[in-house]
This record gives sequence, structure tokens and C-alpha cells, in this order.
Amino acid sequence: MEDHTTPRPGAGSEPASGTGSGPRPISRKSLLKGALLAAPLPLLVGGAPALARNLRPSSAGEQLPLTPYCDDGDDPTPPQMEGPYFKPNSPRRTSLVDAGTQGTRLTVSGYVFGRACQPIADVLLDFWQADAGGAYDNTGYRFRGHQYTDAQGAFELTTIVPGLYPGRTRHIHVKAQAPGRPVLTTQLYFPGEPRNGTDAIFDPALLMNVRTVGSAKEATFDFVLDVSQTPPPTPPPDGPGGTWRAGVNYGAGDRVEYGGASYTCLQAHLSQAGWEPPNTPALWRRA
Ligand SMILES: [Fe+2]
Repeated sequence: MEDHTTPRPGAGSEPASGTGSGPRPISRKSLLKGALLAAPLPLLVGGAPALARNLRPSSAGEQLPLTPYCDDGDDPTPPQMEGPYFKPNSPRRTSLVDAGTQGTRLTVSGYVFGRACQPIADVLLDFWQADAGGAYDNTGYRFRGHQYTDAQGAFELTTIVPGLYPGRTRHIHVKAQAPGRPVLTTQLYFPGEPRNGTDAIFDPALLMNVRTVGSAKEATFDFVLDVSQTPPPTPPPDGPGGTWRAGVNYGAGDRVEYGGASYTCLQAHLSQAGWEPPNTPALWRRA
């Protein structure tokens, strides 16, 4: 079992959301500003705000640019408080349910990317959540489990839709840790939840995509960790001389040419600059 890095100071309790805070969408940047104000260390690098986890003792003064095309064109996946219910040493498993488990079945799947939008293998993902009745198992390990991303940076969790408990909207807790890197502690949210508008911790940047399939739910979420990677090669200015283009909805099985090689699409996606076939092994396989 891999050890967890100690969470950030101040990540101890998970307070109930405020009441009467009024309608507000909380922007990710406003939350980051709040984190900056609460932080004990100067977190301005090069005149721009930075997260504490961006500051590496071994690279004082070095600040890499943020280039997550794989997210929403904005920042890496934002951190959130751990809350009071995390327990270390969860079982390694991708399913938290068995035949007798109560609740609406839910799968959560996605990828973990680094700052150059390359998938990261062997990322530790440790999930914990409430049961269908909104209770955490603080004596055992029900609805707790950890797993590792595969060679394509992919993960899949089988669980149930967590129940609500007082003061919070519906959420799943997770710690994500690339090999040898700090832990990102955060929470994932469900769209359309009435309490999303009143939970002071809720961040729309952490909404999963959720769809209903029969009596079950299928959710997706891609993490972007603050892990520096070799940037993808830049295509020559006059284009790679192939058929691949950004802004195209490719389907599984589609074939394109790029840089003189043929590639087969592995999963449907909307192509983006930076997602050229040689850079995205999760999306394209060289034919
Ligand atoms: Fe919680």
C-alpha cells in the first residue's frame, strides 16, 4: 500500500455549507483566490497567482506554464478540503459494491493527464464516499477503495450514487497522486443537484459528466495533475501534411494521416490542438 502524503494544513474538517449565502456560481478562480488568502506562504510567482502545490522546493523560482488543453483550457484540477472522513489504507479495488449493495449503481471513469496533456499511468486514486443513506463507514472500509490508472492513464470506479448528508451537496471524495508526486485531494460533483447552489465548498470545475443508462448512472471526469511533462511536438507551420484536423468529431475506428503515419481512433472525441495523434495514445493508435 502506497503511503499518502500528508494533506495540506487546514484540510481537517468539512464544515456544513453556509446558509443564506444567496445565488452565486463560485468560479474556480475565486476559490483559488480564497486559498491564496488563507495560505501562510507567499504564493505569487512571476506576478501571477500560483497554487502551493506548484511550488517545488527543488525548483525554487521555477514556474512552468499551465497548458492543460486536456481540461477546459484553464487550470489543473483544483484541490478541495479532505473533510473529516478520510481513512488511510483503503482496500485496492475498482468496485465498491456487491450484489447486496443498496443504492443507484454508478460508474465513474476517465483519464488522468499531466500539464502537457499526456496521460499518466500508475496514478493512485483513492476514493471514499457516503453510502446511499448519507453515512460514511468510519469503522470499516465500505465505499472506500484505491486503484491505479492503467498504461493509458485511464481509471474506472464502480460504486453507487452517494447519499446526501446535512450541510453538503452530493459528492465523492478522491485523492490523486502521480508516482513520486504530491497528493491532490479534491471532490467530484453531480450536475443538477439542488444543493450545488448553496454548498459553499461546491466548485463547478469539479462537476462530472453524468448520464442515465437504464437504472444506473455513468459519469466521466478527467483529472489534470500538476505534473510537468515533455510538451507535445509542435506541428510545422505549414501543417503536418496529413488529414488530421483540430475541431473534428472523430469516432472510434476513424483513420487519419498525421506526420506521414496512419492512426486509428480508439474512442470518440472532439479533437483539439495539442491532441495530435502522436501525443494522445489514449485516443489514437498508430496503424
Ligand atoms: Fe463528504
